[in-house]
Amino acid sequence: MQIVVTGATSGIGRALVGLLTARGDRVFGVSRSVTALAEVQAQLGKNFSFVAADLASPGAADIVARALASVEFVPDAVVLNAGIYPHDSDKEFDAAVAAKVLAVNVSGTLALVGRLLPQVQQRGGQFVAVSSLFARRPDPLGVGYAASKAALTMAFRSLALRYRNSSVRFKVIQFGPIATEGFAGAERRRVRFAPHLRTAQQAAAAIVRTMDSGRTVVTYPWLVSCALRVTAWLPDPVFDAITRPFRR
Ligand SMILES: NC(=O)c1ccc[n+]([C@@H]2O[C@H](COP(=O)([O-])OP(=O)(O)OC[C@H]3O[C@@H](n4cnc5c(N)ncnc54)[C@H](OP(=O)(O)O)[C@@H]3O)[C@@H](O)[C@H]2O)c1
Repeated sequence: MQIVVTGATSGIGRALVGLLTARGDRVFGVSRSVTALAEVQAQLGKNFSFVAADLASPGAADIVARALASVEFVPDAVVLNAGIYPHDSDKEFDAAVAAKVLAVNVSGTLALVGRLLPQVQQRGGQFVAVSSLFARRPDPLGVGYAASKAALTMAFRSLALRYRNSSVRFKVIQFGPIATEGFAGAERRRVRFAPHLRTAQQAAAAIVRTMDSGRTVVTYPWLVSCALRVTAWLPDPVFDAITRPFRR
């Protein structure tokens, strides 16, 4: 298979490109740092090619599409994993931070879907978006982040419905906390107690299972999925108070 992975240089994306190249897939990575991408290529070898692009910039989708065309890489699957999750509301709500989060996690991601749709459709392939449990519950410290993941999830559910009778598939995986560099990068994001915390490798394996399955919306891990269902009737302030010790 030929698979594009955004956010290929760290965390879940880095684990995923390792897993895919190891099983013989050709992988095309996208993220901002050319140095980090070249390091991944040095580690993974000729099955990994890449282009550096900032999904927050309006020209990013064109840069990626041109780079794919230049190496005749027509994707069977595109995993839209790149995302940022800075807090925008630790003190007062900072709308500029929220706007950046939405630009990367939603606008840049959907621009790439639009640009690569004809090629993926031609291959009878799929798009897989990486979302979060914050698509289902609000985040008082990451207002833009929760909005971005809710928007991404709903965009993919809408696309899945729009293209249900075509050859292309749209799927979205909603993760609970995953122990990545980004997740543990700041003291304020550290989870105090997390029996439901999973590794980047486990998350990458869950993405591969989602690609192989026929499901449109997947929540991982199962423990988080159950907790969200069982507590669906709780008002937001009660859910927030109960789950805060388990969260970033
Ligand atoms: N970790 C968790 O607990 C968790 C939970 C739920 C959902 N998620 C979601 O899972 C995904 C991956 O998370 P992670 O924890 O693995 O993140 P991470 O370790 O911070 O890695 C993020 C990746 O995205 C790339 N990236 C960031 N901004 C970009 C931009 N503007 N344009 C292109 N690439 C960009 C980064 O590379 P560069 O910096 O070089 O661009 C890096 O490769 C995200 O969508 C996140 O929201 C994570």
